Amino acid sequence: MAFSPRVFSGIQPSGDLHLGNYLGAIRRFVPLQDTHETIYCVVDMHAITVWQEPNDLRRATREVAAAFIAAGVDPKRSIVFNQSQVMQHAELAWVFNCIARIGWMNRMTQFKDKAGKNSENVSLGLLAYPSLMAADILLYKATAVPVGDDQKQHLELTRDIAAKFNNDYAASIVEQGLDPDFFPITEPLIAGPATRIMSLRDGTKKMSKSDPSDQSRISLLDDADAISKKIKKATTDPAELPLDVEGLKGRPEADNLVGIYAALSDKTKAEVLTEFGGQGWGKFKPALADLAVAQLAPMSGEMRRLIEDTTTIDGILRDGGERAAAIAEKTMHDVRRIVGFIR
Ligand code: TRP
Repeated sequence: MAFSPRVFSGIQPSGDLHLGNYLGAIRRFVPLQDTHETIYCVVDMHAITVWQEPNDLRRATREVAAAFIAAGVDPKRSIVFNQSQVMQHAELAWVFNCIARIGWMNRMTQFKDKAGKNSENVSLGLLAYPSLMAADILLYKATAVPVGDDQKQHLELTRDIAAKFNNDYAASIVEQGLDPDFFPITEPLIAGPATRIMSLRDGTKKMSKSDPSDQSRISLLDDADAISKKIKKATTDPAELPLDVEGLKGRPEADNLVGIYAALSDKTKAEVLTEFGGQGWGKFKPALADLAVAQLAPMSGEMRRLIEDTTTIDGILRDGGERAAAIAEKTMHDVRRIVGFIR
């Protein structure tokens, strides 16, 4: 059976959203609404794998939802909701915890990075995180998942879990009269010249909410003035822009700023260099600042307005939660039968 094209993606509400989240994920959510059924989730259950102050979590959940809407996700055409409202995520994640192997989890580079030397003392949830992510995706039998390249390994694990579930329960799936390919094998949608946005202070480090320097990132709540100043002050080498992409090698800051320009203007880096190659930063940075302000400032204004309007945001999340639950329950109903749970 063919699965209808359905997109699922999630963003964690764990603090300040920045340009990396926008270009790597949220911006790409918008055009997918024209070609796919789209489900965009604020993954609050993932967020608590590391400690979150409850009031901060509530605020950050609304902030991510506001970012989706301000970026152009239409809550009527798409389903926009927060994960914890739909209990089937936790339920399927438990079944997947019993499908996935500890060894698979231990190999996840994001877990190793986050746990560091402290791996005995992080939450069990942090280790099981990819199993919940697989549940997010497979509850909706999503066929395509737009994410940044740091999530590629988690998507491969999602495919492994789907395949092992289909295989381990093959006989039961048939017995229940269901499609033998019960869970689809999901495709990652990792695209664009700027899926990895780097720090504005150090082109070798990812733009991150945990960087102590506020100058290193453009927050999605920054106003026009802040956006422009941060770009103009961004660290660069002294050389002018190269004539071709090859010339960006070994120049991480130049590569990053050209990548940001390319992503914001829906061009390739090569096209950007055709326009700006051979010019100095005194020309390029103001052009990039103007572009970024034109695209981001209206969004940050709308986000700030929406965050204050909790009635509207909470209403969108509730409506999305109901629509998501209707799909999720269909899958979970079948999963319970397949596994042998009486209900
Ligand atoms: N792990 C993702 C991240 O940190 C967030 C996420 C959770 C997600 N569930 C998902 C992304 C399902 C895509 C699909 O970025």
